[in-house]
Amino acid sequence: MQLVTEDNITELAEQRWGTAHDARTREVLTALVRHLHDFAREVRLTEDEWMAAIQWLKRTGQISDEKREEFILASDVLGLSMLVVQMNHRFDPSATPATVLGPFHIDGSPELDYAADMSEGLPGLPMYITGTVRSLDGTPIGGAVLDVWQADEEGAYEGQLEVEEARLRAKYTTRTDGSYCLRTIAPKGYAIPMDGPVGDLIRQTDISYFRPAHVHFLINVPGFEPLITHLFEAGGKYLDSDVVFGTKQELVVDYQHHEPGPTPDGGTIEVPWVSASYDFVLQPE
Ligand code: BEZ
Ligand code: FE
Repeated sequence: MQLVTEDNITELAEQRWGTAHDARTREVLTALVRHLHDFAREVRLTEDEWMAAIQWLKRTGQISDEKREEFILASDVLGLSMLVVQMNHRFDPSATPATVLGPFHIDGSPELDYAADMSEGLPGLPMYITGTVRSLDGTPIGGAVLDVWQADEEGAYEGQLEVEEARLRAKYTTRTDGSYCLRTIAPKGYAIPMDGPVGDLIRQTDISYFRPAHVHFLINVPGFEPLITHLFEAGGKYLDSDVVFGTKQELVVDYQHHEPGPTPDGGTIEVPWVSASYDFVLQPE
């Protein structure tokens, strides 16, 4: 019979999980056991605290569904998602850095033409974003697809609403000179979903539960590392306190404010508008 003590239980559990057949699974699971036990020892975890954690995990699973990923949100606010992104996307310093995907990307967005409006019919300050997609050596990448999504004026994403049509999301393709132009509305900072177990935890702290204003981009070009990133508004609120640790100085862009008049696509607009410019630089595979 194996005698279990407080002192030997970690070694025993590591040995048991060390029988995993695959080497990587073995490495991950034995390290998980070791760190979990160290954590419990360090904080001298009580049985009530253990049960509270189990109940919290249960609620996190129960509130999750096709549209809501509460475990991802938990990983985001704990800084784990961004740590994993950074460890796995160590790009050249001049390449555009990656950030978290977030829970609101939807596959299959409509393909729009150069400068077409992905905010059609929605209230907000019109905004054009222009620039190029290129490789590290400056070669323009034509035919690159920019999958773009953002929240509305109220901070709501399509996935949080009951809507039939694609809303504030689209795919734009770069022209042969690598240039792109999209029209949208200027995004605003917003609160992450606070009505679940993640919100319950955050309310027990002084953590700000807001994200700074941003537009999401996913650019997947053969021969290059897929890029998942955002652009943030320079001087915007919450840049220093992004609840999911997603901000990077290289991704902060200045907005230019314009009076009614000509727009970057050669058209005209009858209301004030803003523009931002950004060149995405892709890391070769
Ligand atoms: C987002 O930017 O869409 C997002 C990212 C992480 C958590 C919540 C929202
Ligand atoms: Fe977002």
